[in-house]
Amino acid sequence: MICDRIFTNSPLRNFSYIIYSEDNKKPHNVYCIDPWDSQQIISHLEKRGLKLSHIINTHEHFDHIRGNDGLVEFYNAKIWAHPNAEGLIPNMDRGLQAGEKIHISNASYFEVMDTPGHTFAHISLLLHQKEHNNNKLAVICGDTFFNAGVGRCDSGGDPNILYESISEQFNSLADHTYIYPGHDYMYNNLGFTLKYEKNNQHAREIFKKYEKDFPSSNQYQPTTIAIERKINLFLRLHITELRLELAQYFPNLSQNSSDREVFLALRQLRNTW
Ligand SMILES: [Fe+2]
Repeated sequence: MICDRIFTNSPLRNFSYIIYSEDNKKPHNVYCIDPWDSQQIISHLEKRGLKLSHIINTHEHFDHIRGNDGLVEFYNAKIWAHPNAEGLIPNMDRGLQAGEKIHISNASYFEVMDTPGHTFAHISLLLHQKEHNNNKLAVICGDTFFNAGVGRCDSGGDPNILYESISEQFNSLADHTYIYPGHDYMYNNLGFTLKYEKNNQHAREIFKKYEKDFPSSNQYQPTTIAIERKINLFLRLHITELRLELAQYFPNLSQNSSDREVFLALRQLRNTW
């Protein structure tokens, strides 16, 4: 399986993804996740001699479906998304159910995750690839989870529900799972981490790397969940330094507060960061 992460240069720094089998002797489906610019996707596919069969939208927001029409027109591709996106995403063909497995190649498939919170029609896709007895994993997570951050909830979502998606589904992913989010917000998010956890050396090191050439620094290596556990405050809710810092803004927060309370406080602060 090949997963091409495409930086779109959109004002919101969107990523689109193209996923296909490296075995081109047999016909396999070719998937585009969250197309922003149909022309950019078409020229990427043409260079590789590929024809798109399916569009999968992680959710219904404009910047994740903008390229749909152009790709349907050019390839007659099918559109799949969360069942709740029916009526929100034009010309949607099928709703994907949580737990459903979608074939990519003989050694790889997607597993559909229902990950509400950013919106209530949001899926993420867990990519499994068998390689020499190892199961390589990656998650395409739209606007649910970002490098060093999580999605906003003020366009049809709910931060309490997002907390549950992150704590129950993302925090339990295997350490070696790669993260493929819907936007490159790495630089801003690391700045947020360092504001509320000044002594986070991992975040500082990565931040320095990108500080030099932001905003052109869009080709960074994808992180893994293991790295996110070190730099993403939304997975570090128990950290004493963070809780002390947050108590300055939320006097009711203490070392005894629940993880959910800390998550909600962080999400609120991130809205105006
Ligand atoms: Fe979104």
